[in-house]
Amino acid sequence: MENPAFLTAPQAVFPGLRDQRTVSLGERGVLLTRSADIATLLTNPEVFSSGVGVTQTGTERPLIPLQIDPPKHREYRRILDPLFSPQRMKEMEGPITDLARGLIDTIATDSTVDFVPRFSLQFPSQVFLALLGLPLDELPTFLKMKDGFIRPESITGRPRGHEDSIALLKTTAASIYEYFDAVIADRRSTPGEDIVSRFLRTEVEGARLSHEDILDICFLFLVAGLDTVSASLDCMMLHLALHPERRRVLVDDPALIPNAVEELLRWESPVMMVARFATQDTEIAGCPVRRGQVVTGLLGAANTDEREIPEPEAVRFDREANRHIAFGRGPHRCLGSHLARLELRIALREWHARIPDYRVPDNFQPTFTTTIRSLVALPLQLGQSA
Ligand code: HEM
Repeated sequence: MENPAFLTAPQAVFPGLRDQRTVSLGERGVLLTRSADIATLLTNPEVFSSGVGVTQTGTERPLIPLQIDPPKHREYRRILDPLFSPQRMKEMEGPITDLARGLIDTIATDSTVDFVPRFSLQFPSQVFLALLGLPLDELPTFLKMKDGFIRPESITGRPRGHEDSIALLKTTAASIYEYFDAVIADRRSTPGEDIVSRFLRTEVEGARLSHEDILDICFLFLVAGLDTVSASLDCMMLHLALHPERRRVLVDDPALIPNAVEELLRWESPVMMVARFATQDTEIAGCPVRRGQVVTGLLGAANTDEREIPEPEAVRFDREANRHIAFGRGPHRCLGSHLARLELRIALREWHARIPDYRVPDNFQPTFTTTIRSLVALPLQLGQSA
């Protein structure tokens, strides 16, 4: 799974994995590769629980709602879903467009740019700050918290399990709690239209979010909502740079961008896998699973499974029904999918309106990160002569 060739073109490996149906990951449990089996995994939370990770992530409490099983999980989603509905997110269209344009303004006159630090890392964090009603000058603090928590190894230079990386992860987690603690206290005294003020106001059937709930939700947003969009942008822009004929279709007809976003999410599946643990001895995909064992679903393999998706190898922006599960499936299906879609559509629309021509240098070899397929760097040569 960490093999660079696999990360660069996982789609080439998926058919062989689907033929095997399940793959043993040794101590890390079992990997499922077919769409129907992954659907079973994700829609049976009483047998395959999400309550993992409290110790793995270094947080004091479970991340809400990701690490909470139904029925409690349903209570959270009843409160959170309306706050992230397509209509609510649509209200963010103007401010998000301004952010995208602002970033593209700083890039458009350059002849070469590294898309990762100049756009894909910045844009989702800026959107998130806007959602929280925080000023843009908080960005460096924010990026530091995100990176210290998600990839401490890149800062310490030590492997993830090394004591230095674990120590950094824990101090970063503490600083994230502290940071959001202050934001929540501030919104309690001076409410606004930002998402934390809305969390504080919302009441569904008599239920309200507690201070700790909000803290744990904000923490999860930082983990779940930033790198996922950055990674999707990286995968999409590399794809479009390598396939100028597909890019041309979008430049000529921007109305196809929403479809293209879905198709590229399906094909690239930037969030590669989701994991559950078995609450009892059981069986899945013909494979016995012991209580406590982890079962992982490979989303990209499901999204290219010919049993579910017609002509899965064709990347087509005119695909009518696109039943991909890049946002997961079942009760934990991505809460932020509408926000993510909005960000991705705006980014592709604004970028291609300003910078229709770009390419990667001839000798460019992409290096992808694992689990969430983001790029370490994406050099682009801009302009018609590129
Ligand atoms: C293209 C970008 C994104 C992708 C591909 C993505 C993917 C996913 C996936 C696969 C899951 C399911 C995890 C599981 O079943 O264990 C998930 C859950 C989640 N995502 Fe996203 N996500 C994206 C963006 C976002 C954004 C922008 C937010 C910010 C609000 C967000 C918030 C969440 C939350 C809160 C959950 C947990 C939902 C629950 O447990 O009920 N995601 N996401």
